[in-house]
Amino acid sequence: MKILHIQASPRGPRSRSTMVADHLLTRLAGAVTETLDVFDPLPEFDNAAIEARYAIIHGERADPESVAAWEEIRRLVDHFLSFETLLFTVPMWNFGIPYRLKHYIDLLTQPGLAFSVTPDGNVNGHAAGRTAIIIAAGALDTTPGSPLAGLDHQVAYMQAWLGFIGVGDVHIIRVQPTYGGPEVIEAAMARGYAEAEALAERLSRPSWV
Ligand SMILES: Cc1cc2nc3c(=O)[nH]c(=O)nc-3n(C[C@H](O)[C@H](O)[C@H](O)COP(=O)(O)O)c2cc1C
Repeated sequence: MKILHIQASPRGPRSRSTMVADHLLTRLAGAVTETLDVFDPLPEFDNAAIEARYAIIHGERADPESVAAWEEIRRLVDHFLSFETLLFTVPMWNFGIPYRLKHYIDLLTQPGLAFSVTPDGNVNGHAAGRTAIIIAAGALDTTPGSPLAGLDHQVAYMQAWLGFIGVGDVHIIRVQPTYGGPEVIEAAMARGYAEAEALAERLSRPSWV
């Protein structure tokens, strides 16, 4: 199993989502993991990149600056698509995802690279066939059915985006709520670790079982 771990918490070893991700990864025997920290430098997604995007959509030639920006984005998307499993560690920030993860997603989500639109208007996601794991941490409990579920623009957004680029097999582990007394936090971590163990079990099973 070749895993790209997209780390969207800048908190290093203090990150709750990363602790659960590490717990999962150590239980996936034979998995080869590469970590991409979205707080490391990323290419700009600026006017040159957008000019290239629109040139491609309209079948026009782009200027050299836009071509160079597009080539950098193409390398990023090729790298992303070269993994069969995509593990996202995602803290909730202001009900959504950290801005650096959104930056990475804005770079990746390009026509002709991450998705294409068929002549009859259907979207064809180029990440089809891959597995995604979202480890979502948050101070609040926004699990579906809970009173604050309507505030979830974190997991709901990640699921919508993954669906758009074609990923159908999505596993979610929530590490929530991480705000409160030690017993509240310990309980959230214990649930996260238990879910990580169960997922490692499921993913390690031969696919024909
Ligand atoms: C800038 C910022 C914004 C946050 N906004 C929210 C929020 O809207 N809802 C929430 O439940 N928690 C929020 N939190 C708390 C984090 O989601 C929580 O501490 C989580 O455990 C962080 O995950 P991590 O330890 O993996 O970084 C916020 C934290 C920060 C630093």
